[in-house]
Amino acid sequence: MSLVRKISGRSVAALSILIFTGSILHAADDDPRIKEELSSSKQINPLKQALGESAYNKAMRSGKYYYVGNTKCRLCHRKFFLGRKKDPHDYAMKDLKGGYEENPKCLPCHSTGYGVPNGFISKKETPRLANVQCEGCHGPGNRHIKIARKTKKGGGFLAGTDRPDILKKMCKSCHTERWNRSYKDFHAAYSKYKNADPNKKSKAKIAQK
Ligand code: HEC
Ligand code: HEC
Ligand code: HEC
Ligand code: HEC
Repeated sequence: MSLVRKISGRSVAALSILIFTGSILHAADDDPRIKEELSSSKQINPLKQALGESAYNKAMRSGKYYYVGNTKCRLCHRKFFLGRKKDPHDYAMKDLKGGYEENPKCLPCHSTGYGVPNGFISKKETPRLANVQCEGCHGPGNRHIKIARKTKKGGGFLAGTDRPDILKKMCKSCHTERWNRSYKDFHAAYSKYKNADPNKKSKAKIAQK
């Protein structure tokens, strides 16, 4: 008797989980931007788009660049690391709930280096590269760390502060015409990322088109 009750209790729970997941899937499938993204044939690779094909290929062929994950950055940039925890980029994978966590159409803009050699593959294989981390904007960090250790200076990034042109293109490769609700004024949004906490000074609510 009690066993029956237990089992039926469980199946009710399982059923409600099913219904719940189903409704998330349904809501996401109704989102016109997701529909468009799924039917687009464009292969997104923000780093490749920002650098241009030949510079990207050259850098990748050199074998000199790979992603290390943001816990490494924390060693020397503690303030930045902690500030970044308030930035939605650091949680971008949560947008992919309901069946999209492994979708190659979504991961290039919601993880760090998906599609780039040594970048994000899956939560299981490369958990330390989930979400849009430091290297999601600045590019692979291994060379920088080597240089910084030796010289106590910056440098070594494909999209470092010495390459604002490339860094700006990184933003725009993810914040495309379709995914354009994060800010109204690009210049103001870009400038804020100099601070450890990009949301500290301005609370001005970001454009909801
Ligand atoms: C061994 C210490 C060390 C580690 C680890 C480290 N950095 Fe740095 N970084 C520095 C130093 C020193 C500078 C130069 C002074 C400054 O700007 O704070 C610097 C500067 C920078 C700059 C500005 C200059 C430039 O080249 O663009 C960025 C961006 C940066 N680091 C990002 C990162 C990221 C991302 C990581 C993790 C992948 C990381 N750092 C890991 C020491 C380090
Ligand atoms: C080209 C980059 C890019 C791709 C590809 C992409 N996204 Fe996003 N996504 C963004 C950006 C940027 C935002 C932040 C909102 C904005 O700026 O419009 C976002 C926000 C979201 C949100 C938050 C709700 C919203 O509408 O703002 C969801 C959910 C989401 N994406 C799901 C997906 C799914 C599912 C896929 C794959 C089918 C996907 N995204 C592919 C860049 C992308
Ligand atoms: C959303 C993209 C983005 C992310 C994510 C990001 N940065 Fe940056 N970072 C920028 C931009 C933009 C600048 C300013 C570049 C310029 O000066 O033109 C910058 C500047 C910096 C600087 C130089 C600051 C100065 O005062 O000149 C450092 C150091 C840095 N970032 C480290 C990090 C670290 C460490 C992380 C991760 C914890 C990180 N960044 C994550 C976009 C980003
Ligand atoms: C690898 C893709 C990627 C890159 C590169 C990127 N972003 Fe984003 N950005 C996203 C996604 C995805 C979100 C939505 C995160 C969420 O809300 O879940 C987002 C959110 C934002 C937001 C909203 C933050 C908030 O507080 O609501 C701003 C502003 C923004 N990005 C600006 C920038 C700027 C400026 C750059 C370049 C320096 C940049 N992004 C680079 C993917 C990217």
